[in-house]
Amino acid sequence: MAAAAQSLPISIRGVSKHYGSVAALDNVSLEIAAGEFVTLLGPSGSGKTTLLNILSGFIRLGQGEVFFGDENVTLVPPHKRNIGLVFQNYALFPHMTVAENVAFPLNARKVPKAKIVERVKWALNLVKLDGFGERGAHQLSGGQRQRVALARAVVFEPKIILMDEPLSALDKQLREHMQIELRHLHETLGATTVYVTHDQREALTMSDRVAVLNHGRLIQLDKPRALYDSPVDAFVADFVGESTLLPVRRHDNESVTLNGTRLRTSRSLPPGDDLILVVRAEKLLPAARSASNVNLLPGRVREVVFQGESVAVFVELGQGQTVVMRHPTNQESLAALPTAGQETTLSLHPESTIVVPASR
Ligand SMILES: Nc1ncnc2c1ncn2[C@@H]1O[C@H](COP(=O)(O)OP(=O)(O)O)[C@@H](O)[C@H]1O
Ligand SMILES: [Mg+2]
Repeated sequence: MAAAAQSLPISIRGVSKHYGSVAALDNVSLEIAAGEFVTLLGPSGSGKTTLLNILSGFIRLGQGEVFFGDENVTLVPPHKRNIGLVFQNYALFPHMTVAENVAFPLNARKVPKAKIVERVKWALNLVKLDGFGERGAHQLSGGQRQRVALARAVVFEPKIILMDEPLSALDKQLREHMQIELRHLHETLGATTVYVTHDQREALTMSDRVAVLNHGRLIQLDKPRALYDSPVDAFVADFVGESTLLPVRRHDNESVTLNGTRLRTSRSLPPGDDLILVVRAEKLLPAARSASNVNLLPGRVREVVFQGESVAVFVELGQGQTVVMRHPTNQESLAALPTAGQETTLSLHPESTIVVPASR
């Protein structure tokens, strides 16, 4: 987080929005600090765009209030919110040059000509498009267009920037490159940023905190690491990271049973009887001969799949339950991996033995 002077906190208070009988948003409250980068993450239809459009003012909320700093903006129209916006589909003016596109918000704000030239140059430099000003918007690649859209969003130095899946039209390599660049851009600008994606890896890569939405409800708001290590329920555990979810029974306060095998956890179990064990693919290990102090899971290897940087090993634990164990492709870990058809024992450290309620 940087330069709080360049940013404003956002307070979303009890916001709901219905379309007929569909609750696009159901009583969502969220406090975003000045200068923070918060990502709205969730599957398609979970309400991400609806919430972003409520912040931009394009959609009227049904219930609740939105504050930017001390100002209640609930009824303020979009053009008076002074927000930088970036969408998935660039939305550049095709008949204009790059510079004209970027200058658009400044012209709309009646900024003096000389100042506009200076600001456009600054913004194009920021997105690494120096010298592209005179190009036609239609003469650019997808990645370049999205940079122009970014430059246009930040050229008037908004205190709040909203982005809705801005990278999802780009190919994987460019997308991953732009994720890091956007993160750096955020550090430079310091504006409070709300970013929408359905890609959990993108959310973990970019955000100070991630807000997970499902069916219009805010399920969990946490830092990336906490989201990954301590999902609040089976939905978050399944959506973030690669895991197998297995129903288990409570044994006592710190352990559960899976097919009669007792598994200890290093944290206290959640309340309720509907408990799910979250087995992260990379936390499973082939059990060392001397393994003690870990949970042991006997099984049979179904399949070993080479996938480039990692190898996935599918192990059937019994009763049709198959877990996936994933390891990096290096000599050391390859040598330790079992082969297809083999009986094996996997180990899971109590600290990596995550148990969540089926739902909250
Ligand atoms: N204009 C609309 N009319 C009717 N239903 C809508 C409208 N916009 C969104 N919805 C519904 O609201 C829910 C949330 O949509 P949306 O916010 O676009 O989700 P996301 O961006 O997470 O994919 C979905 O069920 C969607 O079908
Ligand atoms: Mg959307």
